[in-house]
Amino acid sequence: MLVNEVLHGDARILLPELAATGYGEGFRLAYADPPFNTRRSDRGPFRDQRTAAEWADLIKDVAAGVMPLLSQDGSFWLHVNDRQLGAAQGACDAVFGHEHFVGTISWERTRRPSYLPGQPLASTTDFILIYAKDPRSLRPFTAGTTEAGKRVPIAHRGNPITRLQFPIGAVRFTCADGLYQAGDHSTSGIDVRLTEDVRVNDGRNTTPLSLTLPSRYSQATVHGMLNEGAEFLIPRRPFRPSYLSPGGKPKAVSNIWSWRLDDNMPTNEDAYKEQLLAGMSPFPFAKPVGLLTRILEVATEPDDVVLDPFAGSGTTALAAVRTGRKYVLIEEHNSTIKNFIQPRLIGSRGNGPETGQ
Ligand SMILES: C[S@@+](CC[C@H](N)C(=O)[O-])C[C@H]1O[C@@H](n2cnc3c(N)ncnc32)[C@H](O)[C@@H]1O
Repeated sequence: MLVNEVLHGDARILLPELAATGYGEGFRLAYADPPFNTRRSDRGPFRDQRTAAEWADLIKDVAAGVMPLLSQDGSFWLHVNDRQLGAAQGACDAVFGHEHFVGTISWERTRRPSYLPGQPLASTTDFILIYAKDPRSLRPFTAGTTEAGKRVPIAHRGNPITRLQFPIGAVRFTCADGLYQAGDHSTSGIDVRLTEDVRVNDGRNTTPLSLTLPSRYSQATVHGMLNEGAEFLIPRRPFRPSYLSPGGKPKAVSNIWSWRLDDNMPTNEDAYKEQLLAGMSPFPFAKPVGLLTRILEVATEPDDVVLDPFAGSGTTALAAVRTGRKYVLIEEHNSTIKNFIQPRLIGSRGNGPETGQ
């Protein structure tokens, strides 16, 4: 199987050909960013006027072409706008089956929404539908690791009242040393009782600490956590113990991707700027490299191969090169390959991709 290739042609024809020529199950990820069927003629280098049925057929054909090319643990990510979301989901459900639907990422695509007169609602988000080739084989999507030292309060309103015992030395106190007498430590509707006197010396309990509280954890869980070296902290009176997370665990990915929540999440304005900076005339609706980088980091590992059947300006290839992944792209317009993808890739690493067809 050849990789780092840009193929010229119609994805509906080329995807089945790839499956027939040794690419089957070779891709961990397929990212597809089709024309959104805005039915405007001014989309520059590609056609964007289809009937609703023609557009749904395009998505179905491409999804059907992609499916046999995905590895068992692979996934298909389809980027659409809010108008096409329903049709896109219908088309993918018809091909993959609804039980293969994993979720939808809402990506805030702009920092500068235009509130046009007469437009009832300003749209600022795109959607990325995700389908698994085999939901049982798909690994959880993660990005980065959890922070060390994050405080997780043990008491949680509404949980059943539980008696917890912490052995000598198991709890760190940042309040004054001394003898704390058994009694009520409830505040703001959370019932906490210190059931036996406890002595604190040098910031540690020198007698067992015994509490009743609406606990997130059972006594058995707390024992297990202590055996694994967990740290517990009581910062002040009234006693409200927290678990100090050791961090370093893979962080699950949320389905809201927004520059408001994450400084590193780019928008279409960034896509425009990065193309200008690279000396390109911006490709209409190119996605930012940072968005594709995030998708590749979440859905693949280094050396995996990613497929993009609607290549456009080749953003997926650029992100693959930057993250140590491999790519196969398909684009139906040769002029787009010559004027956008090739110069971009040459600019990114000093040589170009192979081109086929
Ligand atoms: C929205 S653009 C993709 C933009 C791309 N994600 C980027 O960041 O530059 C869609 C691209 O799909 C191409 N395209 C549309 N129909 C196609 C088909 N049937 N086969 C291959 N390419 C197609 C268009 O020519 C256009 O370049």
